Amino acid sequence: MSEQSSAGVNAGDSARITREYFDSLLVELRTIDSVKASTEMELWGETFATPVMVAALSGLNKTRPGGMVDTARGAAAAGAVMWTGIGSEAELEALIATGAKTVKIIKPYADRDLIFRKLEHAEKSGVIAVGMDTDYVFGGKNKRGFAMEYPVSPKTLDDIRSFVRATKLPFILKGILSEQDARKALEVGAGGIVVSHHGGVLDYAVPPLKILPRIVKVIDKKIPVFVDCGITRGMDAFKALALGATAVSVGRAVIAGLSSGGADGVQEVLEDITGELQWAMSLTGSCDTTHIDPEVIWRR
Ligand SMILES: Cc1cc2nc3c(=O)[nH]c(=O)nc-3n(C[C@H](O)[C@H](O)[C@H](O)COP(=O)(O)O)c2cc1C
Repeated sequence: MSEQSSAGVNAGDSARITREYFDSLLVELRTIDSVKASTEMELWGETFATPVMVAALSGLNKTRPGGMVDTARGAAAAGAVMWTGIGSEAELEALIATGAKTVKIIKPYADRDLIFRKLEHAEKSGVIAVGMDTDYVFGGKNKRGFAMEYPVSPKTLDDIRSFVRATKLPFILKGILSEQDARKALEVGAGGIVVSHHGGVLDYAVPPLKILPRIVKVIDKKIPVFVDCGITRGMDAFKALALGATAVSVGRAVIAGLSSGGADGVQEVLEDITGELQWAMSLTGSCDTTHIDPEVIWRR
């Protein structure tokens, strides 16, 4: 439900505002004494080739038959973390069977027992983390109150604490876009957060990178801070990491790769983004993903 001008343009389009913010950030060069950067990322005791991950995606069998499994194959081949959202238990098992290290994001279903069952199944299946997209507690922008056919409902801090306690795995809160929610995430013992507006669940949403430095300050390195929304190239990923993100997730750009090239297409998108990220890191004196000086970023 968006307000369109007579020209058909939605001035509050969060995807466009987010893109404009990425493009307003410029990068200085630091080449003397620089080294070829490593893009490796340590996360929860494992090493990944890249901090560029597949976003929590779902329903990709509509993009291409076998699209969910192909996406996981592409992620595994790129040495990237695979995230997934709403989907069946059988589908989650098939994703994990590809060898992709997978994070399962569970919807904020109104039925709490369903949440606990999904948590238990995900943990038993061998995911590396679980979580919830808390920006979906009122449903989608165009289908309010529901995620697919399932009713969703708002969650209190106590509800979330009970989910965190129900699993031994890190529990991620996806859709954090305020310092207030970041503080609450720490308070309940979340294992990480995703700074995100879910691709525009709300018009005029603050661009994740604009609020990221403040959230990073609140989190103070206690848990990983992931970012998604609008990341399509290595420079976007670089800016996010420079501003304090642990890693980034890519949704629609990965879907474009899947659509044109299946698992290979997914791998290629992840590797292209990682390649440009490495180039930017190397040219800014950033030896690895944990050593990027935020001062290399300038506002246009
Ligand atoms: C087809 C599709 C399915 C998605 N399904 C989910 C989901 O089930 N759970 C979730 O948390 N986010 C879901 N998302 C949101 C993504 O995880 C991500 O937040 C969003 O797409 C923004 O990233 P992007 O701009 O790189 O696409 C979905 C996005 C797309 C495009």
